[in-house]
Amino acid sequence: MDLVNHQFQLAARPVGLPKPSDWSYVETPVPEPGDGEVLVKVEYISLDPAMRGWMNDARSYVAPVGIGDVMRALAGGEVVASRNPDVAVGDHVTGLLGVQEYAVAHGSAVIKVDTSLAPLPVYLGTLGMPGMTAYFGLLDIGRPQEGETVLVSGAAGAVGGIVGQLAKLKGARTVGIAGGAEKCRHALEDLGFDAMIDYKSEDVAAGIRQHCPQGVDVYFDNVGGEILDAALASITRGARVIICGAISQYNVTDAVRGPSNYLALLVNHATMTGFVVSDYGARYMEGATEMAGWLAAGELVSREDVAEGFENFPDTLLRLFRGENTGKLVLKVGA
Ligand SMILES: NC(=O)c1ccc[n+]([C@@H]2O[C@H](COP(=O)([O-])OP(=O)(O)OC[C@H]3O[C@@H](n4cnc5c(N)ncnc54)[C@H](OP(=O)(O)O)[C@@H]3O)[C@@H](O)[C@H]2O)c1
Repeated sequence: MDLVNHQFQLAARPVGLPKPSDWSYVETPVPEPGDGEVLVKVEYISLDPAMRGWMNDARSYVAPVGIGDVMRALAGGEVVASRNPDVAVGDHVTGLLGVQEYAVAHGSAVIKVDTSLAPLPVYLGTLGMPGMTAYFGLLDIGRPQEGETVLVSGAAGAVGGIVGQLAKLKGARTVGIAGGAEKCRHALEDLGFDAMIDYKSEDVAAGIRQHCPQGVDVYFDNVGGEILDAALASITRGARVIICGAISQYNVTDAVRGPSNYLALLVNHATMTGFVVSDYGARYMEGATEMAGWLAAGELVSREDVAEGFENFPDTLLRLFRGENTGKLVLKVGA
C-alpha cells in the first residue's frame, strides 16, 4: 500500500495551554494491518478535554502520551483493510485511533457502529464516550429523583448538555451554568433546561440561590474551581456532588484550586464522588441502547460542533478551553 499518513505527535509537554511547538506534524507510510488487525481511514477525530491531562507526565487513570507518540484520541472512520473476521472492509468503527489520518487497530479494540442510524459524529458524542459519561455519572452516581433539582456546569457542552436532558427525563428540575448568552439560549430552548446561569456575566452563587430556591440535590460538575465552591454553598441534605471534570483547572500552572466550601458536605450529610467513564465499560451497551431509544423517539437532542481540516487539530483542541464549542466538538478529516 503506497498511501501517505499524517499524524500529530506530542513533541513536548505543555506548560499551561498547549502551544504549536508542543506538536510535530509528521508524514509516514500507511501501515499494513497484521493478523487480527484492521486499517481504518479516519473520518472524524473527537476533541476531548481529557486530552490535555493525557499530555502531562503525571499519575492518572491512564499512562501519559509519550513524547514522540501519536496523540491519543477517540476517533471514527471506515475500515479500508481487514485481517479480522469480525470486521469487514466498509464497516464504520470508533475507537482510540489517535490524531492521524489512518490507524491500525486490533479488531477487538474498535466498536462497529451503524451510520445508517446516526451519523458518525453522534457515535463520538451522545452515543459515545461523552454520552456514556453523562448517562452513568448522572444516573448511577447522581440518582436524580422526580422533583429534585439538578445543577449542571458546562451545560452547553457534550457531557453537560446530555446530563441536563437526562435529568429532565427523570422528572428533575434542571439548572445549567454556561458561558455566554447564546449558549444559555441554546440550553434553555433546544435542550430544555428550566433555568440557566451565564457565569461570564452573572454572579454564579446568587444565580444558584435564585434558580434553586429549594437548594441543589444533585450537582454534576464539569468545571471545578470557583463554580464548584458556589454549588457546594447551596447543596441540600443528602446531596450528591459528581466530580466529572474540572476543565477550569486543566491548564493552570500553579496549584489546582480545590473547594473551600467542602464542609458543606459534612453538615448536609452529602457525598462528593469522582468517576471515570471507563469504570462503566462493561455496561456501555446498556447505556447506548437506552440513549439510542431516546434519540430515536426525539426525547434527546444531540448537538455536534464539527470543525474541519486535519491540519487545524492544534487550534481546534484549544476551542474547548476557550469555550468556543457548543455540543460535542469533533474534527472532520479530509474533504
Ligand atoms: N470523568 C469522565 O470519565 C469524563 C469523561 C468525559 C468528560 N469528562 C469531563 O467532562 C467535562 C466536559 O467535557 P466535554 O467533553 O463535555 O467538554 P465540553 O463541555 O463540550 O467543552 C468544554 C467546555 O468547557 C467550558 N469551559 C472551558 N474553560 C472553562 C472555564 N475556565 N470555566 C468554566 N467552563 C469552562 C467551555 O464552555 P463555556 O463556554 O460554558 O465556558 C467549553 O465549551 C470536562 O471537564 C471533561 O474533562 C469527564
